[in-house]
Amino acid sequence: MEDADDSPSSPKEVVTFSAKVLSRLLTVLAMFTYESPFLWHWLSGRKNPRADLAGPYHIIGAPDRQLEEGKALLATKKELETFTPFVLSLRVRRADGSAVPHATVDWWQADGAGRYSHATYRLRGTFATDAHGAASVLTVAPGKYGPAAHERAAHFHATLADPARAARPLTTQLYVCAGNDARELQPDFLNFVRAPRPANMLAAHAVGGACMGLPALRPDAPEARAALDWWAARLAARGVDASVRAWAQTELRLNA
Ligand SMILES: [Fe+2]
Repeated sequence: MEDADDSPSSPKEVVTFSAKVLSRLLTVLAMFTYESPFLWHWLSGRKNPRADLAGPYHIIGAPDRQLEEGKALLATKKELETFTPFVLSLRVRRADGSAVPHATVDWWQADGAGRYSHATYRLRGTFATDAHGAASVLTVAPGKYGPAAHERAAHFHATLADPARAARPLTTQLYVCAGNDARELQPDFLNFVRAPRPANMLAAHAVGGACMGLPALRPDAPEARAALDWWAARLAARGVDASVRAWAQTELRLNA
């Protein structure tokens, strides 16, 4: 879905013509090869329950969104004030369970209204985890998009890689369903290409009041509270008139 309000704030946010053309070519190539239904299942889907299709909306060359080690800010002030601020605590491991130090992440998503930006790198970016494979990401909850009867469940996209190359990259999607209800995965039009990927539904929690029918974050969740306090201070320092409304954590294992 196109975004009707692409207003780049700096030149590095604008997608160049060459990046656009190359991204489209790579997408078409992928659709007819390793992202085709049969090949994707055998090359990726059956090997890793967290794998998912990249789909057509990835754009190469997204800017660095790292604030400091293990902390990434994907959304602008305007997006945070318009949509639902969402923090994801992420851990990246190799197939043997060992942490991936400074794992690289390329992230892209729709905004809360289900719109991708194609002219700018809005809600797209790269960052790295800390030395223990952990990262805390502040963004906005994505929105559904697509035809009414077959809307895509709301999701983040990410490709994760091990800079030491001891593991193979993983491309995934992380689903955000109202009330953490996996039935939202069923009408998704991507199910015509591959079976639903329920392992990729996040178990999210509401923070500071009702949000998307999610269960409230328990008070005794120290990791979540530390991450939320850290982001609350950054939002205040940046003059953002919004607070984090939802939190989730997930652990992803790269491909062997
Ligand atoms: Fe998508």
